[in-house]
Amino acid sequence: MKAVELRKDIYWVGAIDWAIRDFHGYMTPLGTTYNNYLIMDDEITLIDTVKYDFSDVTIKGIRSVVDPSRIKNVVINHIENDHATSIDKIMELAPSATIYITEKGRKGLERFFDLSKWNMKTVKSGDTLSIGRRTLLFIETPMLHWPDSMMTYIKEEKILVSQDGFGQHIASAVRFDDEFVTCQSAAELEGAVVDYYANILMPFGQIIKTKISEIQKLGLEIEMIAPDHGIIWRTSPEKVMQMYLDMANGKSDLSVSIIYDTMWHSTEKMSLPIMQGVKDEGVECKVIKLRATPMSVAVKEFWKSRGCLVGTPTLNNIMYPTVAEFLTHLRGLRPKGRIAGAFGSFGWGGGAVKEAYEEFKRMGLETFEPGLQILYKPSLEDETKCYDFGREFAKKVKEYHQRF
Ligand code: FEO
Repeated sequence: MKAVELRKDIYWVGAIDWAIRDFHGYMTPLGTTYNNYLIMDDEITLIDTVKYDFSDVTIKGIRSVVDPSRIKNVVINHIENDHATSIDKIMELAPSATIYITEKGRKGLERFFDLSKWNMKTVKSGDTLSIGRRTLLFIETPMLHWPDSMMTYIKEEKILVSQDGFGQHIASAVRFDDEFVTCQSAAELEGAVVDYYANILMPFGQIIKTKISEIQKLGLEIEMIAPDHGIIWRTSPEKVMQMYLDMANGKSDLSVSIIYDTMWHSTEKMSLPIMQGVKDEGVECKVIKLRATPMSVAVKEFWKSRGCLVGTPTLNNIMYPTVAEFLTHLRGLRPKGRIAGAFGSFGWGGGAVKEAYEEFKRMGLETFEPGLQILYKPSLEDETKCYDFGREFAKKVKEYHQRF
């Protein structure tokens, strides 16, 4: 790939990963990019590297602008493998460069590389680095996405290099938001932002609010947000910041997701009248079968909806394994501002619905109780109970939605 100019003398030198579909267990149907940025100034500066497999690609991009041996500074905003594992290749070519990194980043990076051979400088929030005509301001953003993370603001250009924040897993031939919405669609771009937030950043909503407010208090004008994944926000940085604030404040659609699995179709049969009940109460509804859906898609649909009904058969007195896996995964994401209920079929003693509620309570979710259990297979009478259950749940969701 040739470098792509963002602003005069500032280049994207990243790599496009068209083929990745499983990003550490997170489904990425659109692929992704690993973005990094080269600033041609008195001191040539590289911000971030890329995933190891794409070392040659970024080096080729850098070479299309300058001989890499002339790089003077390398900023590492985030040490996760998709961004920092080609640092050794870069440092082989620019051995006298200095790496700028947070203290936690340095401690993490030394678990992967021998740092003794490199010039390292640790930085913290508020530190600046003058590279000639431009000044870099470092802003630590711990837990967005790892404890080491920071963002780098290029003051004179009003560009925020935001590492994982504001990113999306999209592989595209274009680099900028205005290009993407023209050749594809704004809805696809926004959908990818929600997907990324739900699966990667959901646990960190409070930190996101704090960091955005910190940036606002610093009075930083932001004309462009350049994340380390996906599309660069050059026409609508304020839009993605607002999306993040909204999500951090618990914004969702007034809708219900029914996320279930089934053994012999009984729980599945329950989901249909439940869906009808929800719809007849005037609330949109989406039905997702876990074994037919990647986990990250189920997580995204959960996050987009104000209410979720989880359907699980009882197997050996506990939840069906895929449902247990989903709820365990969800608990790690620490969802907030959602209401949940559970339903399912059982043959002997039951137990799965009770367990699902225990899991909701561990997560601190608002619950709709009691859940609904059906013996073996829903009868016509049971189908009416399911319909009523869906309808009552939708009423509760509408009430709960008013709080946001
Ligand atoms: Fe894209 Fe947290 O790495």
